[in-house]
Amino acid sequence: MEKMNILLLGSGGRESALAWKMSQSPLLNKLYIAPGNGGTGAYGENIALSPLDFPAIEKWVAENAIDMIVVGNEDPLVAGIYDYFEGKNILVVGPSKAGAALEGSKDFAKQFMVKNNIPTARYQSFTAETIEEGYAFLEQLQAPYVLKADGLAAGKGVLILSSIEEAKASLKEMLSGMFGASSATVVIEEFLSGIECSVFVLSDGNGGYRVLPVAKDYKRIGEGDTGLNTGGMGAVSPVPFADEVFMEKVRTRIIEPTINGLINDNITYRGFIFLGLINVANEPMVIEYNVRMGDPETEAVMLRIDSDLVALMKAAAQGNLGDVELKEDPRTAVTVMMVSGGYPGDYEKGKVITGCENVTDSILFHAGTKINAEGELVTAGGRVISVSSYGESIADALANSYASIAKVDFEGKYFRRDIGKDLMK
Ligand code: AMP
Ligand code: GLY
Repeated sequence: MEKMNILLLGSGGRESALAWKMSQSPLLNKLYIAPGNGGTGAYGENIALSPLDFPAIEKWVAENAIDMIVVGNEDPLVAGIYDYFEGKNILVVGPSKAGAALEGSKDFAKQFMVKNNIPTARYQSFTAETIEEGYAFLEQLQAPYVLKADGLAAGKGVLILSSIEEAKASLKEMLSGMFGASSATVVIEEFLSGIECSVFVLSDGNGGYRVLPVAKDYKRIGEGDTGLNTGGMGAVSPVPFADEVFMEKVRTRIIEPTINGLINDNITYRGFIFLGLINVANEPMVIEYNVRMGDPETEAVMLRIDSDLVALMKAAAQGNLGDVELKEDPRTAVTVMMVSGGYPGDYEKGKVITGCENVTDSILFHAGTKINAEGELVTAGGRVISVSSYGESIADALANSYASIAKVDFEGKYFRRDIGKDLMK
């Protein structure tokens, strides 16, 4: 068995969880995380490289005998990191640039779904030249109105408006550069009503795939799903409504048409596909594709994989998942994010974090943390540490996470106390 040196790109809670899981693999020789955070040093070595500086990465991986690059976040994928390293004798876990357009262009993703008969909200796309048609399309729809910037907008490019006047005004603003070039094209779609969940699929590009444990995330800052959107305040896996009947529909109507659609279009995809789904009266529909794992879903999902993640990623990147096993841990896993006071608005950084060493019943996945010049662990972002726990039930796992959160402190610490509540009714 040949051991691998792996470079993981990213610095968030998702990368902490991926690093934690990979660090347990018998296939791993050395793990490097670029740039990593204040906690990832526990699983490997942090390297000061930008995930978007491909020439610098190329030089560094050659000098350090790296066998595989795992891409945590979407930006390098959309920028074409897979294509950059193709033919350079290194495995990359992630889609080609053409595949990454499933996240990088919502218009492309919608066209792909329509072409492959994948259930999704009715839509049309508009540019500044066709704004009048955009207004007319809005008139055909009913409130609320969903407007999406075509390109990447750091998770902020979706607006949901309750009146037609606001929707028209927002369409105009978006097309006039509200999200820069990302909103030069705007997708307008029908509003779907239901409960969301996240399904992750590892694809080998040749028709082989594995479905990872399903999760649900909590995006809003406030309890009861109120207030501004964040990068994610918590997650739960499994999701009770994503039962066998529902998942069979997801497989036949969404996953397989997606995998086959990519192959038919000659789009190389050897990495994670994230299906943002909504359950509309027990029928799964696609809200969005992402081309990477979810954050904070990964901080729950990794606890529920009872197989070697490195073996799975390696096989996928080589284009042959074959019979490499993905076994689910039957326990429930939850994660609750501790964030900086004020987030997702303005917040202060550099607050000393204490008590992590007292946590015994949860796993702490660092997100926005760093070690300062004095060697102290301090806050360095809005989302600070995700607290993940196992349990026999959602309530049981949450009790562990909340007990652990009580042991960790930093000035301004905030977290939601209602993660998973909607699934326990
Ligand atoms: P996205 O950036 O595509 O994930 O959209 C952000 C959020 O907006 C989603 O997680 C949904 O909660 C909501 N959303 C997006 N599209 C729709 C839709 N067609 N109907 C209802 N909600 C939507
Ligand atoms: N949790 C949603 C995302 O990662 O985009």
